[in-house]
Amino acid sequence: MIKRIWILTLFPEMFKPFLDCGIAGAAFRGERSEDFKFELHFVNIRDYSTTKYKSVDDSPYGGGPGMVMRADILKDALLKGVQEAGGYESLDQLEVVYTSPRGTVWTNKVARDFGVSILGSPDKDIVFIAGRYEGVDERFLSKYVTKFYSIGDYVLTGGELAIMTILDSAVRFVPGILGNKLSSEYDSFEDGMIEFPQYTKPREFEGMEVPSILLEGHHKKIQEWQHQEKLAMTKNWRPDLLKK
Ligand SMILES: C[S@@+](CC[C@H](N)C(=O)[O-])C[C@H]1O[C@@H](n2cnc3c(N)ncnc32)[C@H](O)[C@@H]1O
Repeated sequence: MIKRIWILTLFPEMFKPFLDCGIAGAAFRGERSEDFKFELHFVNIRDYSTTKYKSVDDSPYGGGPGMVMRADILKDALLKGVQEAGGYESLDQLEVVYTSPRGTVWTNKVARDFGVSILGSPDKDIVFIAGRYEGVDERFLSKYVTKFYSIGDYVLTGGELAIMTILDSAVRFVPGILGNKLSSEYDSFEDGMIEFPQYTKPREFEGMEVPSILLEGHHKKIQEWQHQEKLAMTKNWRPDLLKK
């Protein structure tokens, strides 16, 4: 199966290092699974500008600082650059995602739900819209966007990093994409706690030994130790998680 992801952006080049590196890059280059291949397509919003100087924004009605991305140009980028170019009969075949401070806050749970039921599902292809300037004309958002996500309570200068964050954290939950199926289940947040401490070679580093229990090979005892360490680490580093 091929899952197409379309990214509407003014800066497609920002995604190159993301696609060139690591496990997520390989996944989105379509190289992690024979049965489930991602195909990433970039649409440069500027290509759909109708103005002399290829602008995509204009000043806000009512005044105020900054510029706003134009609804008509984004509509053309979506309808011509994605729907027509991709051969979709209807926009119902697409999930249109806009990243914005107003959206559902991105947590591990939201990432898992998105990974399983949107990114990893054959139902719909996905379009991401990367906002810039002061954001996007509300009329485009209300007519065409189906999902809004925020990556946290702070303001980025553009949606590209938010889109990469969403893709990187959600792809871990798409079945068959991670090398070790179990590893996402053991990662931080899966059971409301952060991860236990990890050790590798050398056994002794600057006078500090690896905890002896990890060297004894007693699986049940190691699991019990890891659980206690998770509790202690969470209490120490993220006590807010335990309260939740
Ligand atoms: C400078 S921001 C616009 C901020 C907007 N004027 C506001 O006050 O909410 C430009 C773009 O970055 C993206 N962005 C900014 N903060 C974000 C966040 N926390 N999560 C997701 N996307 C964000 C959005 O796509 C936004 O349109």
